[in-house]
Amino acid sequence: MRLGVLTSGGDCPGLNAVIRAVVRRAERAFGAEVIGFADAWRGVLEGDYETLTVERCRGLLPRGGTILGTSRIQPYQFDDGVQRVRKTMFRLGLDGIIVIGGNGSLGAARDLCVDGVPCIGVPKTIDNDVAGTDETFGFDTAVGVATDAIDRLHTTAEAHERAMVVEVMGRDVGHIALHAGLAGGAATILIPEVPFHIDDVVAVIERRRKLGRYASIVVVAEGSMPAEGTLDMPSYETDEFGHRRLGGIGGVVAQELERRSGMECRLTTLGYVVRGGTPSSRDRVLATRFGVAAVDLAAEGRWGSMVGLAGTSVVPVPLDEVAGRIKTCDLDLYHEVAEVFFS
Ligand code: F6P
Repeated sequence: MRLGVLTSGGDCPGLNAVIRAVVRRAERAFGAEVIGFADAWRGVLEGDYETLTVERCRGLLPRGGTILGTSRIQPYQFDDGVQRVRKTMFRLGLDGIIVIGGNGSLGAARDLCVDGVPCIGVPKTIDNDVAGTDETFGFDTAVGVATDAIDRLHTTAEAHERAMVVEVMGRDVGHIALHAGLAGGAATILIPEVPFHIDDVVAVIERRRKLGRYASIVVVAEGSMPAEGTLDMPSYETDEFGHRRLGGIGGVVAQELERRSGMECRLTTLGYVVRGGTPSSRDRVLATRFGVAAVDLAAEGRWGSMVGLAGTSVVPVPLDEVAGRIKTCDLDLYHEVAEVFFS
């Protein structure tokens, strides 16, 4: 067996741990060779690759980022993209490609399978929004970093009697904001799934101020939106792949809070900090399990599948059931648990 592997989309802690596990399983269990492609599908399209060995992967487990590099390039952006992918695979004698990616990349992997390019998907993203898996690696690390930041902001908030707004990543979903906000004791949490009313946020902050020197931390996912017609929003630019360049809602909330409550308010945008650096031990374990399972699926010829976490088990999930869907927040967790503390 000869396998290709690539990492696609935004980087995420644990990518290197998957690569290491893929190579170890392939080499030791199946005597298979693994080819690593540079910068996601760019490497496949342009024939830019390296042979990965167990030796090459030494020391990778705790390293953030990806030794292969990443990009958002997909074969379908080019008229002859699929043809070029097939050509590279034929030249290298590959049986299939393990695609480590988020929603966009896994959707493309499903389409490639339909077009006769065998792929196995491995879900990755700090946002935890891939359908078909209870969790993606990277999420636990991101929540840990964001929680640590919130803990640190508590002291300044208390000392200065300020409200602190913390903006975290979360384009379409608020998993990071919800979990870090719960873990960090936020006064309120804003997520894309639930349009917010700025008056409610102000009311929480004012209630807490009346109670004493309570720190008020407002955690905002970058994709959060005010209820229609309640607040003017900045217009977002889009990048070359059509993604909105988010970041800014935290500033709007902080400004409005200060204006409406008269209380001093400061903004901290965590941005890429939650996505960088070494993966948590939990993410290392999940990434390792996914890498091993992906090679086993390839060896069984189960192309068109993704590995996913169901409870405590790693299971195969058809890419067909993943493509075009996103996993939103558990609204019971938001309304029944988190909201208990919004007072
Ligand atoms: O990995 C997903 C994500 O973290 C989103 O929450 C965020 O909007 C996006 O990546 C930004 O990534 P980039 O600026 O690299 O496109």
